[in-house]
Amino acid sequence: MSERRLFRRRALWIAGNWKMNGTRAETQAFFDALKSSFPKSDLPAALHTAIFVSPLSIDRALTVRGDLPVEIGLQNVHFESKGAYTGEISGPMALEAGVKLALVGHSERRQYFGETDATAKRRTESLLAQGFTVIHCIGETKTERLENQTENVLARQIDDGLPTEYSDRLIVAYEPVWAIGTGLTATPEQAEEAHAFIRARLATCYNREAAEKLPILYGGSVTPEVFPALLALPNVDGGLVGGASLKPESFRTLIEQGVEASRSAE
Ligand code: 13P
Repeated sequence: MSERRLFRRRALWIAGNWKMNGTRAETQAFFDALKSSFPKSDLPAALHTAIFVSPLSIDRALTVRGDLPVEIGLQNVHFESKGAYTGEISGPMALEAGVKLALVGHSERRQYFGETDATAKRRTESLLAQGFTVIHCIGETKTERLENQTENVLARQIDDGLPTEYSDRLIVAYEPVWAIGTGLTATPEQAEEAHAFIRARLATCYNREAAEKLPILYGGSVTPEVFPALLALPNVDGGLVGGASLKPESFRTLIEQGVEASRSAE
């Protein structure tokens, strides 16, 4: 079986991370606009779409999304189920609100809020055990890339940060920090090289079969202009998108590109 064929059996994700954007009114306006322009035909079964909104917009997003096949996720959920953790949100709180999807270990959590591989691992393990689907983010900084440390950093983030046990609800996002919000998307060569390395490392952590099934998303200045070339890569299984997910038109275009990539995969 060719590598291409294996790639096509994996789920494809088009996920938007709104970061600290999106008031409730803006969330409503986004979903209203998305509804009116959403692809009319059913999405391919293997294609997932999601938006990670502010916790305060969860209720509004779940209501206004109606029957749109867009999952709603949280950007940060704590590993403990309750307690003295000022400012945090627990898994049971998220589940009660109707959310079963979470981001963990985003570079902005690591850079500004002290997230480490160890705490990211605790979050991901706890959330998976509670039934969540988790997108666990990894990626090197510009300095680390310039110092040829990319593979060492990714290996450490995988070995020390990912859960010990494989789960089919685990997804990895490769987000090179130098590409986030900078307009400097990784080239297809850079992305494929990193994704292939990550997949090989996952095979050593879990096993080859698990590594072949695990979706690896690319994030970092994804736009409709660059996305098709990334989606065509054998080890890229979708995108985690910041800025371009805030506008309904560009998010819808990214979904259409995902539909196209899934169709050409059948
Ligand atoms: P941008 O798409 O704005 O570069 O953000 C990427 C990101 O951090 C998604 O989690």
